Amino acid sequence: MSLRKTDWKDPMTPLKQFRAALSALLLGGFAAVGAASAQETPVSSPTDRFHPVVAPNGMVASQEAVATMVGLDILERGGNAVDAAIATGFAMAVTLPRAGNLGGGGFMMIHMAESRLSDALDYREKAPAAAHRDMFLGEDGEPDNQKSRFSGLAIGVPGTVAGFEAAYERHGSGELTWAQLVAPAIELAENGIEVTPDLSSSLASRAERLGKDPATAEIFYKPGLRPYSPGETLRQTDLARTLRLIAEKGSAGFYEGDVARKIADKVQEAGGGMTVEDLADYSPVWRQPVAGSYRGHEIVSMPPPSSGGAHIVQILNILEAYPLREFGANSADAIHVMAEAGRRAYADRSKYLGDPDFADIPVDGITSPYYAAELVRGIDRTMATASTAVSPGNPLPYESDETTHFSIVDRDGNAVSNTYTLNFLYGVGLTADGTGVLLNNELDDFSAKPGSPNAYGLIGGTANAVEGGKRPLSSMSPTLVFRDGELLLVTGSPGGSRIITTTLQIILNVIDHGMNIAEATAAPRVHHQWHPDEIRIEEGLSPDTIRRLEELGHKVVVKNTMGSTQSIMKVGDMLAGASDPRRRGSLTAGH
Ligand code: GLY
Repeated sequence: MSLRKTDWKDPMTPLKQFRAALSALLLGGFAAVGAASAQETPVSSPTDRFHPVVAPNGMVASQEAVATMVGLDILERGGNAVDAAIATGFAMAVTLPRAGNLGGGGFMMIHMAESRLSDALDYREKAPAAAHRDMFLGEDGEPDNQKSRFSGLAIGVPGTVAGFEAAYERHGSGELTWAQLVAPAIELAENGIEVTPDLSSSLASRAERLGKDPATAEIFYKPGLRPYSPGETLRQTDLARTLRLIAEKGSAGFYEGDVARKIADKVQEAGGGMTVEDLADYSPVWRQPVAGSYRGHEIVSMPPPSSGGAHIVQILNILEAYPLREFGANSADAIHVMAEAGRRAYADRSKYLGDPDFADIPVDGITSPYYAAELVRGIDRTMATASTAVSPGNPLPYESDETTHFSIVDRDGNAVSNTYTLNFLYGVGLTADGTGVLLNNELDDFSAKPGSPNAYGLIGGTANAVEGGKRPLSSMSPTLVFRDGELLLVTGSPGGSRIITTTLQIILNVIDHGMNIAEATAAPRVHHQWHPDEIRIEEGLSPDTIRRLEELGHKVVVKNTMGSTQSIMKVGDMLAGASDPRRRGSLTAGH
């Protein structure tokens, strides 16, 4: 079954019609929509088991089908990739409430084809001014997870609405008004979304945590904390009102007045220190992307306060020393050097990375090919290196993918790679009363105490210590890849600490292993993050590969799948896209 937009008869199909068209599919639960096109195209070959969605003019790949169609509709109405990204992002705050958001933050990589400019927009949440270094410690002086993950102290000043506004002002097409980009989300919130199996099971699994806040419970559950079943309608009328204010007043509708006051009240009620001044003071930052090269390709990705771009480039620099194609995709030799590279990169991450507005981050050194050459000298092809440094990480029981990513390319070749998040699924689980805005718990990404792991087992140093007005370190890695100056790939993923290695493997699978984008997406993933000292793998590697890795001295552990990539690749004149089959409900669609 192809889900290309061309399957819809009326190219101006209103939102309601394509929602109805999608509902039958959604209720049937389609696991691998993005990889479902059986149509043979020049972008895949008869030996491929997975085939991308193909379209000539524009494409949207996101983790939620209705939001994908919202973005595609904007492209068809003459909007550019940035317009479509804003509409998709707002829609996802309604349709994928566990990660899409108004109350969180993220990063957007933008490429404008005409000017050949790539821009990095940082709309990461900030710590309120009252935040201080020891605020997540308990009376015993040790990190208190309750404070950093489930209390008002965990909530960062949201960046999403201001970020989208900044993107619109700098790179929007001007063909569509801001209000037109917010309108689909208003309609979805006001008239309701059809609950998918994915949304239903996700809400059911989090009822205990979300049910603790009456404001959240009232929106997402029926009386008695009964979850909505697939096919039922979920309306978010408070959220619709907030979105309407944003449509009318721009970001002032969120950061000033009634909504801002309600957010500050809720955070304070939950023990946090956020004020209306913190909200009024929030501003996103345009940053210089991190750039590197890999086997003749240019890699352009997110700079600090994300660690993603710096470490993707660092790992690629290390891996360039090895003949990965000759080793073979997911061979023991390839996984061994990937793990060794990852181990070294994540060790650096723990010490050097943080908010560049508060600490000097040695990005040039981390991404230097000379530094990579030095690291390569320390890698033994015949034996794993033990991760002996700082305090050992404790694997913590947070295994799901909480963030979300979408990629968009328009007919002019402009591209957006956007990753945004509430941190955990549904963030801190608290909703600012009367606003419908779920709040994040992003400040757990700070290092509560140097050397102590966060929820992803990531260890941080003083560069990532808590400070008022500072942004917590992230792994989000929205990435663009170019060949000879031409856009080749737009990609990214959720997945906490695994975002970096997941995004990296899409790049390796395309560049080294020559896979089409659907094959690159479906291939089993591996991950090493220094601590815990293990190669985490998905199912699908052969027993003799695992045995060989163990002989090399690695501990190999099969765990849950990693990531949910949403990627678009330019192949000749066509766009080929793939949504990750690991998560239900994703959709890549083009026109
Ligand atoms: N909250 C996950 C990240 O930003 O990496």
